[in-house]
Amino acid sequence: MNHPFDSKPSLAESVGLSTAPMPTRLYTDPTHYEVERERIFRRAWLMVGRVERIPKAGDFFVKDIAVLKSSIIVARSDDGKIRAFHNVCAHRANIVEHRPNGNAKRFVCRYHSWGYSNAGELAHVPDEAGFFNLDKKKCGLTPVAVDVWEGWIFINMQTAPEVSLQAFLGPMADALANIDYPDPDHPIVLRGEFNANWKTVAENFSEAYHIASIHPKTLGTIYTGRDNPFSRPISANLYGPHRSLSLWLNQSNPPSDKAKVMRWLFSSGQTITGTRKEGQTNSIVEHKAVNPTKHENWSSDVNWFFPNWHLQISANQFWTHEFWPTSANTTVWEARFYKPKSTTVRERLQLEHFTSHMTDTMLEDLGNIESMQAGMESGAKSFVVFNETEILCRHGLEQVVKWTAAATAKEALD
Ligand code: FES
Ligand SMILES: [Fe+2]
Repeated sequence: MNHPFDSKPSLAESVGLSTAPMPTRLYTDPTHYEVERERIFRRAWLMVGRVERIPKAGDFFVKDIAVLKSSIIVARSDDGKIRAFHNVCAHRANIVEHRPNGNAKRFVCRYHSWGYSNAGELAHVPDEAGFFNLDKKKCGLTPVAVDVWEGWIFINMQTAPEVSLQAFLGPMADALANIDYPDPDHPIVLRGEFNANWKTVAENFSEAYHIASIHPKTLGTIYTGRDNPFSRPISANLYGPHRSLSLWLNQSNPPSDKAKVMRWLFSSGQTITGTRKEGQTNSIVEHKAVNPTKHENWSSDVNWFFPNWHLQISANQFWTHEFWPTSANTTVWEARFYKPKSTTVRERLQLEHFTSHMTDTMLEDLGNIESMQAGMESGAKSFVVFNETEILCRHGLEQVVKWTAAATAKEALD
């Protein structure tokens, strides 16, 4: 099989990436983790959800973000605007909203019942006369910077973000502009906490090199074949701090019974190739940045937005992974598979089958992610080495090094 990774110099070298081993301490050192909290998670724009989660005035969801030691309310206010606030009361700093999502005219702190409008203004104080010079205008919920790109809601924890969301996304936003996301309303959500550093978890979803080895039955017959036994990708692109990879699909063998349900993820039961064929209704495959080489044997794209969000796309489908650190060596992983709402029992059963199959696949990953972390923590190896096809992992790690060394977000983006 011919693909870009056969060429010399390697893709990594041609885009200026190092090919040297990388230090394991980046995954294990609690001191490094503290620097990541401040210099990456407090400075980068972080994707927290899609606009379809809060379509009506008053709709909200709460995002608890351990790495920021913060709980954030993301709400659509009565004026229709999306706002984000710290979920912290101006009275004595209790957490205000304890529901994970809902619709609210008022956010009411349960401790002494201070009430806030869904635009974050302090609206009600019981026994207001008993306070001393209380300036209610200054006692709203503390706002958090928020912006929306193509239906994706991002927050930034800097009080006045150094760089706009547009500047932060840069060439990645340009490349992926105007995608028509099919069925963005009804995701299946899978969530779990891994005993591993957030980068160890994110990297697992960023390379296909491990598929032949640990997923031979669940994914192997789809992503590997005689022509491509190690699931080498079709192409890769680096966009500032962000990155994309297009993965190969085995079109020649009929999938095994176990893998059929995964085919459904890629094709909705249709034969898919690099370009839209008769019967395919969604234009997603024609987008210039989706399968950018329009390769016939294309399965899906991994778009990894720095630092912790994956947007993955296949013909007619998209799904996301979020990797939220909870400590130096624990991570909450949350995946959303966007599917059409079931309208028949058969479709519902298909969805359940798909979900259980995804869970099986995840269990194959889980043991390896956690044992890799354990191996790194043992101190036996000071370095890890990356295959050429693990280019997203390498680029991710190099960006982590860059952002943790940079004095400002602007400098990190240069
Ligand atoms: S701490 Fe919220 S009302 Fe008192
Ligand atoms: Fe995997």
